[in-house]
Amino acid sequence: MTKRTSHCLKFFTIVLFCLSWVSAHRVHEYDKHPLSKFNIYKTTLGFRDSVIITATPLILGSKGEDTAWVTVDLVNPDPSDDDWVASPYLCTSPIKYKYANFSNANYNQTGNNTLKFQLINQRADFSFALFSGGLSNPVLVAVSNVITFSNPKAPLYARLAHGKLWNEMTVTWTSGYSIDEAVPFVEWGLKGEETRTRSPAGTLTVEQNSMCGAPARTVGWHDLGFTHTSFLTNLWPNTVYSYRMGHILSNGSYVWGKNYTFKSSPYPGQDSLQRVIIFGDMGKGERDGSNEYSSKDPGALNTTDQLIKDLPNYDIVFHIGDISYADGYVADWDQFTAQVEPIASAVPYMVASGNHERDWPDSGSFYTGTDSGGECGVIAETLYYVPAENRAKFWYSTDYGMFHFCVADSEHDWRKGSEQYKFLEQCLASVDRRKQPWLIFVAHRPLGYSSNDWFGEEGSFEEPMGRDDLQRLWQKYRVDIAFYGHVHAYERTCPIYQLMLPGNALSLHISRFLKVNFNESWFSLSTSEQCSHLKTTRVKSEVSHYSGTMNGTIHVVVGGGGHRLGSFFDTIPTWSLYRDADWGFVKMTAFNRSSLLFEYKKSRDGEVYDSFTINREYNDVISCVHDSCGPSTLAA
Ligand SMILES: *[C@@H]1O[C@H](CO)[C@@H](O)[C@H](O)[C@H]1NC(C)=O
Ligand SMILES: *[C@@H]1O[C@H](CO)[C@@H](O)[C@H](O)[C@H]1NC(C)=O
Ligand SMILES: *[C@@H]1O[C@H](CO)[C@@H](O)[C@H](O)[C@H]1NC(C)=O
Ligand SMILES: *[C@@H]1O[C@H](CO)[C@@H](O)[C@H](O)[C@H]1NC(C)=O
Ligand SMILES: *[C@@H]1O[C@H](CO)[C@@H](O)[C@H](O)[C@H]1NC(C)=O
Ligand SMILES: *[C@@H]1O[C@H](CO)[C@@H](O)[C@H](O)[C@H]1NC(C)=O
Ligand SMILES: *[C@@H]1O[C@H](CO)[C@@H](O)[C@H](O)[C@H]1NC(C)=O
Ligand SMILES: *[C@@H]1O[C@H](CO)[C@@H](O)[C@H](O)[C@H]1NC(C)=O
Ligand SMILES: *[C@@H]1O[C@H](CO)[C@@H](O)[C@H](O)[C@H]1NC(C)=O
Repeated sequence: MTKRTSHCLKFFTIVLFCLSWVSAHRVHEYDKHPLSKFNIYKTTLGFRDSVIITATPLILGSKGEDTAWVTVDLVNPDPSDDDWVASPYLCTSPIKYKYANFSNANYNQTGNNTLKFQLINQRADFSFALFSGGLSNPVLVAVSNVITFSNPKAPLYARLAHGKLWNEMTVTWTSGYSIDEAVPFVEWGLKGEETRTRSPAGTLTVEQNSMCGAPARTVGWHDLGFTHTSFLTNLWPNTVYSYRMGHILSNGSYVWGKNYTFKSSPYPGQDSLQRVIIFGDMGKGERDGSNEYSSKDPGALNTTDQLIKDLPNYDIVFHIGDISYADGYVADWDQFTAQVEPIASAVPYMVASGNHERDWPDSGSFYTGTDSGGECGVIAETLYYVPAENRAKFWYSTDYGMFHFCVADSEHDWRKGSEQYKFLEQCLASVDRRKQPWLIFVAHRPLGYSSNDWFGEEGSFEEPMGRDDLQRLWQKYRVDIAFYGHVHAYERTCPIYQLMLPGNALSLHISRFLKVNFNESWFSLSTSEQCSHLKTTRVKSEVSHYSGTMNGTIHVVVGGGGHRLGSFFDTIPTWSLYRDADWGFVKMTAFNRSSLLFEYKKSRDGEVYDSFTINREYNDVISCVHDSCGPSTLAA
């Protein structure tokens, strides 16, 4: 018996075992993910000895790389256009696949083809399998030799995030080393200086049985190894540090990760040039063209590449929900984390929770859809550090110099009286605007304003119940800009308040108006009043420059990070100043306490397509802080 055959037999036994295991579980039909097209439940075995499939090189990443290109050669005497090649993880969905005829229309006659795959280190061996019968009736025909990374357990995929204190940076990474096997730590110090500090790391894992349902708990499952987080504390503000992850093995030898650098964050309130990137809904792309990913997150690689190119020109990133779009195909989390590593290892990568991380029926999410593919938040909460009191409740505050961010979790209740509402009020109330003039609210779902087509059809132009309670807070605490994702496009409003506080004459007037006329189209009527000034004299200076007394919160949807694009409602509400159904992200630059530049850039070219500036003095914010602000001072 040749080595190859013996490997195949081993593979068969496992597959047979798996098929029986898997068929005992009911599939949750989740057809949005490309990997869900592979009908693993219908797989049969039809091994053909005449088929040769080989993968080279045998050892990947011999110089410590975490990414490698692999060549797969096929010789198949009985080819068909239904043949496809996948890198299987035994028992579960493959990580990636391509049709065997990929970029070779002659394959269906010659049976020969050479495919290129890009693999990342995912802590296990790889092999490739040839299937016939298409994706829906797969027949396993042949399995390749095994290839492996030189150290499958290596510490990889560094990602930074703010800790709970302003002078604390967290480094999170992935490895194959359990804490019994090796002690994880980060070695770090001022860049260019000899003195190094070692900080210990905590270790977390994700268990298959902590997944709430399929596919995450069944065919989509993939072991994510060990997630380590180390806390680098007592940092000097705005100072460049170098660091690397390490593990001390039980025999005393060391395993090291790559060398990285980052610049620590400024002291809250400190005046310096401060640049923030915000976007939502990115997902991952496949640089080797596999999985037909272009149909799922078509803009993800362009966004990632623009941000990598622009790295020296910004200081912190907020990815505000719908992070990897793994949707229960858990191996995608490794691939997403590898994709953003050049960014996340250099600047704090702050995430928010979206429906694709969190939502699952009967799992405590506010919305009971199945968008997380059974992950129910567990994976995002484990793989990415956020400075929340309880990472399962994904809301937190964080500072970047003159910016104060209140990051909400739209997948948990935010309404008045809820735990989150109390947090948000506390977060907004705790900022000293003299020192931190730029107050930013963030949530995944549009809790403010969006004229996306489905919100438009609903007539609410928001996530139902979104504004009802929160606009009191935005108004009372004079929030400058509120950011949302979820809608896969860009939209910006004029400064706007809709809620009328009791005791205000105009508000009573409008509430009465509201009661009498309330119906689906009320919203556009009342808001037309708010932005009428702009509507009639929409000249460039008024939409591109704001100064003087603060009149409202600017709501921005920036969900075009990479996933399939959305579309807008036909009617453009008067409050909507700029809409763009394309991939892009926002950059905010605070030059000082009175000057902010806002830019929307497209991912395809990094050029600015919408922008405005705010020039404001402290008095302009506090002038009506005691609940006395008129609701529509724009029109006043
Ligand atoms: C092989 O593929 C080519 C190009 O897609 C197609 O025109 C041809 O009909 C196919 N031949 C067979 C035998 O399927
Ligand atoms: C490969 O086969 C698929 C169908 O299985 C077909 O849609 C595609 O056009 C073929 N590609 C080439 C390059 O022939
Ligand atoms: C396919 O590849 C094999 C091995 O490289 C070679 O012997 C054979 O001639 C090729 N067949 C065709 C039709 O090109
Ligand atoms: C310690 O163990 C590792 C992993 O087993 C091995 O690669 C390394 O050579 C060992 N080092 C020493 C000094 O024995
Ligand atoms: C990383 O830096 C350390 C010194 O801090 C050095 O000893 C090591 O060789 C560097 N590693 C790489 C891969 O450059
Ligand atoms: C809602 O109010 C508007 C304006 O008063 C009116 O034109 C429209 O017919 C009303 N719609 C419904 C469903 O009552
Ligand atoms: C607020 O409204 C007043 C009156 O319309 C206007 O003069 C001022 O420029 C506005 N402030 C901002 C920041 O837009
Ligand atoms: C703030 O920065 C802007 C833009 O660079 C500049 O024009 C302005 O003079 C600065 N203001 C102060 C008070 O430094
Ligand atoms: C990605 O960027 C390239 C280069 O600008 C552009 O040609 C391509 O259309 C972009 N892709 C998407 C999906 O936007």
